[in-house]
Amino acid sequence: MKITVTGAAGYIGSHACLRLLDDGHQVHGLDNFSRSFPRTVDALQRAGGDRFHFTQVQLTDQAATAAALQLHPPEIVMHFAAFAVVPESVKFPLIYWHNNVGATVSLLHAMDAVDARKIIFSSTCATYGEPNAARIPIGEDCPQRPTHAYGESKLACEHMMKAWVQSHALADRDRGVVFLRYFNVAGGDYLDRIGEDHDPETHLVPICLRAATGRHPELVVYGNDYPTPDGTCIRDYVHVEDLVAAHIEAIKVIPRRETLAMNVGTGNGASVLEVLHACSAAAGRPVPFAFGPRRDGDPPRLVSNPEKIFRLTNWRPARSSLESITQSAWRWFAKEKKST
Ligand SMILES: NC(=O)c1ccc[n+]([C@@H]2O[C@H](COP(=O)([O-])OP(=O)(O)OC[C@H]3O[C@@H](n4cnc5c(N)ncnc54)[C@H](O)[C@@H]3O)[C@@H](O)[C@H]2O)c1
Repeated sequence: MKITVTGAAGYIGSHACLRLLDDGHQVHGLDNFSRSFPRTVDALQRAGGDRFHFTQVQLTDQAATAAALQLHPPEIVMHFAAFAVVPESVKFPLIYWHNNVGATVSLLHAMDAVDARKIIFSSTCATYGEPNAARIPIGEDCPQRPTHAYGESKLACEHMMKAWVQSHALADRDRGVVFLRYFNVAGGDYLDRIGEDHDPETHLVPICLRAATGRHPELVVYGNDYPTPDGTCIRDYVHVEDLVAAHIEAIKVIPRRETLAMNVGTGNGASVLEVLHACSAAAGRPVPFAFGPRRDGDPPRLVSNPEKIFRLTNWRPARSSLESITQSAWRWFAKEKKST
């Protein structure tokens, strides 16, 4: 299939490109490198050869986005491109509205221009906000009440895409959208070709690995008095390769003239301390840490109810043990460290 991947140089988008290329698809990656590096595209080019094309494009620019899609009109679009750092979105909300919503407007226009009808959208559990304890594990019917501009911008994209599939314009077209609402994504490629590569880094696993090797100051664990077994927050971690596999399964269930929302989580949670200890074990050295105060808006436990994706697809998380996640993250990190 011909698949366009936005955010192709980013963490999850690049792993998606790699899996699609490994599966024999033709992939057109789009990115503006605002949150990523050309070296990731080099790795994709090495893996994909002439089945991989890349266009550097600012997706908020409608004309440029339309021109990019014209180069290789896709059968399916996977839309990963976004800004996704919560504290930044609290500080600079307009940047998030502009980038995340603006890019999605451009993309849908561009898809119409090349008659591309199917899109899988990277949504997030942040659209649920801070559900009360009775709603956890979180199902797709949990009310969506985001508490920051990042979550709000993602929810706005969901609403926009719903209007797009239901619109009467070009109504003969069977547009379809899947919203995959991710929880916490971590880990790297099984062949260590790429991994999580942000600067600055804001995610727990890579920060732990950097702290273990002295590349990051000691880790601050925000709060150890939560009502959880070890007092630290619990989140639902999914290996990036499992997450990408969910996209492959989602292709098979893209609805016609509808949207379909599925959570992508394991249903199991791990605490910050459990992740930290798994990172220590993977790295073979301790992760230095100190407890700090709680952060505003950090619920004690956010865990998915994966029943819907289990029921509608063959997706099952196969690599999402903490051991598998942290070992794959460490292998790539150690390899990169040697080469830089
Ligand atoms: N990483 C997670 O744990 C997680 C959890 C929930 C949802 N998500 C969603 O998954 C998607 C991918 O996340 P990620 O962790 O890979 O993020 P990332 O920052 O690593 O990748 C995003 C990519 O999109 C690109 N991009 C952003 N705005 C762009 C624009 N206007 N034009 C062109 N390119 C642009 C960036 O340069 C970057 O390469 C995001 O949509 C995010 O909201 C991620």
